[in-house]
Amino acid sequence: MACVIIVGAQWGDEGKGKIVDLLTERADAVVRYQGGNNAGHTVMFGNKTFVTHLVPSGILRKTTSILGNGVVIDLAELIKEIEELEQMGIEVENRLHISDRAQLVMPWHKTFDRLREEQKGEKKIGTTGRGIGPAYEDKIGRSGIRVGDLLEPEYFKTRLEEIVDEKNQLLEHYFKTNEPPFSANEIFSEFAEHLKKLKPFICDTALQVNQLVEQEKNILFEGAQGTFLDVDHGTYPFVTSSNTLAGGACAGAGIGPTRITDVLGIVKAYTTRVGSGPFPTELFDKDGELLQSVGNEFGATTGRPRRCGWFDALLVRQAVRLNGVSGMAVMKLDVLDKFETLKIAIAYRLPNGELTENLPRSLENVTPVYEEMAGWNCKTAGVTDYEQLPPQMLAYLERMSELVGAPVSIISTGPKREESIVLNPDQLWL
Ligand code: GDP
Ligand code: IMO
Ligand code: MG
Repeated sequence: MACVIIVGAQWGDEGKGKIVDLLTERADAVVRYQGGNNAGHTVMFGNKTFVTHLVPSGILRKTTSILGNGVVIDLAELIKEIEELEQMGIEVENRLHISDRAQLVMPWHKTFDRLREEQKGEKKIGTTGRGIGPAYEDKIGRSGIRVGDLLEPEYFKTRLEEIVDEKNQLLEHYFKTNEPPFSANEIFSEFAEHLKKLKPFICDTALQVNQLVEQEKNILFEGAQGTFLDVDHGTYPFVTSSNTLAGGACAGAGIGPTRITDVLGIVKAYTTRVGSGPFPTELFDKDGELLQSVGNEFGATTGRPRRCGWFDALLVRQAVRLNGVSGMAVMKLDVLDKFETLKIAIAYRLPNGELTENLPRSLENVTPVYEEMAGWNCKTAGVTDYEQLPPQMLAYLERMSELVGAPVSIISTGPKREESIVLNPDQLWL
């Protein structure tokens, strides 16, 4: 039996989807515990590419898939995603379970996400525009609506009427837009239609997860976003609105910390970020362009180009600590194939001139101090035999592991499921 949390160690898009899919072969269930359809997790096998947003990536194998209570759900988008998966031959019904405690992303959440970003102008967060921030605000502010509320139409209607009234006041008097007000009646009818489709999926998923634990099943917890988008530990305010850290899996799935057996940190061999916010090792030169083009660094959700930079050991060391990472999957090493020299940030010079090896509260205006390493400058894309990896790559991995304080468990040399090297498969927990 194992309960393994898969968590992004940087700013998201590390390749969590690929690894969840890889490990799902040995899992009985895959659980999403936070975030919503701001996520975009890519899985490639054979000649097919799937991008999941809300549905756990584990759905692509014959595994129970669970959307836990910590997730915020846009029902219309979820239905669309289920239909797309079914069109691609993936069976979803009877395999997907939705927590009755999960919060709903309502129409005003998406509107307010957009209007806030417009209001902020140059200072915008660069959100995905999926209503995630406003949905979590309402959850914490106790003005949210939960999936289970739909099962009690009278209660849902009364709650909707109260909330809609407040949201319309905000729309008219605070945002001062000419947009049409929200209609409780229309929303009620729309959600009644959604419920018809999704009712069989709704249950107490915390109970389900704990029963799976009692049956000694293998469970994967699929994190979304990454450590530095965490609302507490990330580059606030340029973060998402949930606890993306491994710790978030307990509250977001309803499982006790004593049940968790391991945490696998997903680490990109360099660094990327989508949206605004500080990024000390960001590159604005030909090296950055090369990472972006070879790595195909465009957002899986919004299509925006991802900002690219060198590997930052301070960030990942902090991620190892915050998440209790017990092993790492190092992704996209093949993207570095064409570099003669590689750089790793090992310290920052702070604006006051001091040097630090620990992550400061603010990453604004810090200057990275780099260590240079020889690149391998040869093709490793698609290599699946450890013996064929060039010595320079092994040295890069060893140094990375030493700097961040966690062992390498998986090496990824391409986007496809099979382009992976699992070191010590027997020790891979599941
Ligand atoms: P996630 O959000 O963490 O699941 O990551 P995304 O799917 O948003 O972004 C990762 C991208 O890198 C996807 O396009 C993957 O297909 C791709 N990818 C994953 N692992 C590798 C790898 O080892 N090499 C290459 N070249 N691409 C990879
Ligand atoms: P996956 O799971 C990368 C970023 C947005 C923005 C900030 C806040 O695919 O790794 P939000 O819409 O969440 O309020 O946006 O967070 N962001 C992501 N960046 N990968 C993601 O997900 C992200 N989800 C949100 O770009 O900077
Ligand atoms: Mg992604």
